[in-house]
Amino acid sequence: MTSDIRLADLCARHGGTAGLVFREGPAGLFFADVTNRHAHACVCLQGAQVLHWQPHDQAHPVLWLSAGARLAPGKAIRGGIPICWPWFGPAAPGSAQPQAAGSAHGFARTQAWSFNGAQALADGATRLCLRLTDTVQTREAWPAAFDLELRVTIGASLGLELTSRNTGSAVIMITEALHTYFRIGDIDAIAVHGLAGESYFDAVAATAAAPAASAEPAEQEGAVRFPGEVDRVYDARGGCHIDDPLLGRQLHIAKSGSASTIVWNPWNAKAERLGDIEPGGWRQMVCVESGNARANTVRLAPGASHCLSVRYHVKPLRTGAA
Ligand code: BG6
Repeated sequence: MTSDIRLADLCARHGGTAGLVFREGPAGLFFADVTNRHAHACVCLQGAQVLHWQPHDQAHPVLWLSAGARLAPGKAIRGGIPICWPWFGPAAPGSAQPQAAGSAHGFARTQAWSFNGAQALADGATRLCLRLTDTVQTREAWPAAFDLELRVTIGASLGLELTSRNTGSAVIMITEALHTYFRIGDIDAIAVHGLAGESYFDAVAATAAAPAASAEPAEQEGAVRFPGEVDRVYDARGGCHIDDPLLGRQLHIAKSGSASTIVWNPWNAKAERLGDIEPGGWRQMVCVESGNARANTVRLAPGASHCLSVRYHVKPLRTGAA
């Protein structure tokens, strides 16, 4: 289908529902823009990636999108909520070797998803449904039959439900994450609360260790702060929140179907190496990701499904609450 026909088809089938407009952006990517009585949002159909969500009472977007993000077919977009699936990190579960170069965090974030419908909810929120199923290309990267559905609910809060279904005849193992980039005032000023006492794998310490050495799991004491690069995978099933005194807000993260929370900020040297973050842009972002990573693999028998879900909402940060 040519891009003109595809855009016309999307608009004819779903446009206008609950403040939904489609547009074709740079390099032929498609975007679903939503404006309803609660918020503005934008979802890129490549990767089913939410790029923007800003409730009308917020002076700043809640999600961070790099000014240097590459918006191009087949390229991972730096910011918003990339979907890491069917593996989180460099390798598929059970595989000793990293996958092919460029496929860290799986292929779902660089595939074109289909748009499966929009719904206006009674409270004025808008729900979008996107879907990805296996193709010749995905089976080359990962030999499994699946049906992956993302439901995004855009309102005063933002909800995402990612349902993985095994449509094949063999067991499949997945790791996954909703890799959310939050917009913050400055990385020096924020703190992530709710992870105290949880054990974590420290990827920065593991990289610094001798080859083949694995860093001992550590236990979180108090709030997570950022004196430098932080890259940690926590074993944590509960939610958490980010206190941001400069923007005067708390970002609350509730989740279910998730046994891992990943906290990441690249700091300056890694941000420069990544090549798609504008100078100093890393100071205004923190990733707090909800997923199932490392040993928290999800096993799906034929016909079985699993739902990973998150809900984000913003509260004012009262003085002295940090
Ligand atoms: C985080 C990982 O989830 O994603 C980091 O913990 C990684 O190790 C980061 O660097 C970004 O990954 P990518 O593939 O989007 O550059």
